[in-house]
Amino acid sequence: MSSTANNASSIDALIKKLAREELVDMVPYQSARRLFASGDNAQANSKTWLNANEAPGQGKYQLNSENINRYPDFQPQALLNAYSNYCQLPVTNILATRGADEGIELIIRSFCKAYQDSVLICPPTYGMYAISAENHGADVVKVPLINTVTNNEETKCQLDLEGLKAQVGNVKVVFLCSPGNPTGNTLPQSQIKAVIEMFADSAMVVVDEAYYEYTSEDFSAEQINTKLISEYDNVIVLRTLSKAFALAGLRCGFTLASNEVITLLSKVIAPYPVPAPIAEIASQALTNDLAAMQTRVNSANALRAQLNDWLEQQAWCCEVFPSDANFVLFRCNNLSEKDTVFNLLVENNILIRDQSKQVQLENCLRISLGSEAEISQLKQLLETLK
Ligand SMILES: Cc1ncc(COP(=O)(O)O)c(C=O)c1O
Repeated sequence: MSSTANNASSIDALIKKLAREELVDMVPYQSARRLFASGDNAQANSKTWLNANEAPGQGKYQLNSENINRYPDFQPQALLNAYSNYCQLPVTNILATRGADEGIELIIRSFCKAYQDSVLICPPTYGMYAISAENHGADVVKVPLINTVTNNEETKCQLDLEGLKAQVGNVKVVFLCSPGNPTGNTLPQSQIKAVIEMFADSAMVVVDEAYYEYTSEDFSAEQINTKLISEYDNVIVLRTLSKAFALAGLRCGFTLASNEVITLLSKVIAPYPVPAPIAEIASQALTNDLAAMQTRVNSANALRAQLNDWLEQQAWCCEVFPSDANFVLFRCNNLSEKDTVFNLLVENNILIRDQSKQVQLENCLRISLGSEAEISQLKQLLETLK
């Protein structure tokens, strides 16, 4: 062992010499739990977490640890069957992953050659598409969403179809987020179809439906994006148990695609991606807790309507974005009012998410719909700003 072993600066020097250069200064995903790491449960419980779009409420699950000495199945059958029943697709169209985040990573690793291929994102959008791409050495092409005023005079963020068309041939994967995070609005299915058709021969189109269950619009039978999997070869849908199922800590998500795409992704994923206890809990949630999940979604949607109305009445708030998800995005009049709102909440241990660094979201903050008690605590505090 050299005399410099375990010295922080020598390890830094070694990393600089050996690691991929672009990772050294890369900023990782700023997750709530990374930004406000709390160390112990007591400290974590003293905070009100309204920044990561988690759902309130917990289920009760039984675990059988009898076979824990064995590796789990590559894709536990009971879990696939349960999700197949839920999403109405055959098990051959489903890959269970460690959260939808792992699905994003697998898709990029499977379709993009490092330092050669690119993904396309439509900001403002979920941060992990760009971070996973960067991690893999794929370039990120951006075609920002555009604001469209709808018939009932709401401003909605929609796709820039002309801008997207100009990128056909330049990218291997297109990420669409619907309902969008952090915007909250559902993309019209006509737009999603147009993008799938436009990239039919040149790119996979990923429709990230992490917030699918909260969609309140008439999601008629024809509107369901999973149906597009049998109509088009280049469609992938992402789902998760982290939101409506209130199982963010479980890390369980699903990638839905043609059997051929699932077979390809299965070559890239780890050999035992879903730990046995995770599969057990997830299967129970998908079998026994569907009614509880629906009740949770209904409460969140009712709370969302109330929070929307309340925000619209606040003098410091100049815009509330229509949301089909378990969070509300709003804009403050200016930077100083945005900081005042955010800081007052942080000082009182209520954590919401500052989105103001995203394109088009100057002075915007996002509140996750926690429990009714948590939201009323937040409102009470902010009412002191009047
Ligand atoms: C749009 C979107 N996709 C994917 C994810 C990741 O979900 P998971 O917890 O299943 O990894 C999130 C998490 O916030 C999200 O907002």
